[in-house]
Amino acid sequence: MTISREKRSKPDANSIKTDRLLLRDLHDADWVSVHEYSSDPKVCEFMDWGPNSARETKEFIKRAMRAAKDKPRFAYDFAITWQDADRVIGAVSLVLVGFPPNQAMIGYVLGRQHWGQGIMSEAVGAVIGFGFETLKLHRISASCDPKNMASFRVMEKCGMRREGYFVEDKYIKGRWRDTLAYSILAREWNDRQSGRQAK
Ligand SMILES: CC(C)(COP(=O)(O)OP(=O)(O)OC[C@H]1O[C@@H](n2cnc3c(N)ncnc32)[C@H](O)[C@@H]1OP(=O)(O)O)[C@@H](O)C(=O)NCCC(=O)NCCS
Repeated sequence: MTISREKRSKPDANSIKTDRLLLRDLHDADWVSVHEYSSDPKVCEFMDWGPNSARETKEFIKRAMRAAKDKPRFAYDFAITWQDADRVIGAVSLVLVGFPPNQAMIGYVLGRQHWGQGIMSEAVGAVIGFGFETLKLHRISASCDPKNMASFRVMEKCGMRREGYFVEDKYIKGRWRDTLAYSILAREWNDRQSGRQAK
């Protein structure tokens, strides 16, 4: 569904445009579209949360909105929308860590009907760019269950390096799970960008 410009949420200072997407802060009114994927057991299979109740989804949005007001800001939950439709189809989170906070952890989730179209690689690549170019971070890391091939392919497509395999380090939804760890440094990101421009 395409929503007219007048009905779109106001662009916020940290919104990011990619070829197809607009990444922006979350708002109260987003809870219905966020709940569509956050209540889907298949989407939540590898997550340490969910499937969410309506209340849990609303609480998540409230937390994200509170974090967006923090100064300095340590947590970014970018809602993913198509550029011509304001409906939220997924999200990418970027949480700053360290003293001073010059590193970050990235996480992401997408509604099932949108899988397999390169959307998350496009969104995560843009958020990594935001982390290095706007926030001047030194290092960004991410992790996933080794069985979650789509997730580690996203990290690899965004230029992240596999740097570790942890055995049964997380107890999620009744069983011990392994973790694959990935990261990328600012200089690796810059090299990758220069390589792309040279082509
Ligand atoms: C992981 C997730 C975000 C991927 O989003 P997406 O937009 O479908 O990802 P992309 O299309 O950008 O890329 C996915 C890559 O994985 C590959 N892939 C997808 N499913 C796969 C599977 N079952 N086996 C092997 N590869 C798979 C795709 O082919 C693609 O790689 P390619 O372009 O080299 O072919 C999405 O599946 C999702 O939201 N899953 C549920 C939540 C989740 O697991 N989040 C991550 C937690 S760490």
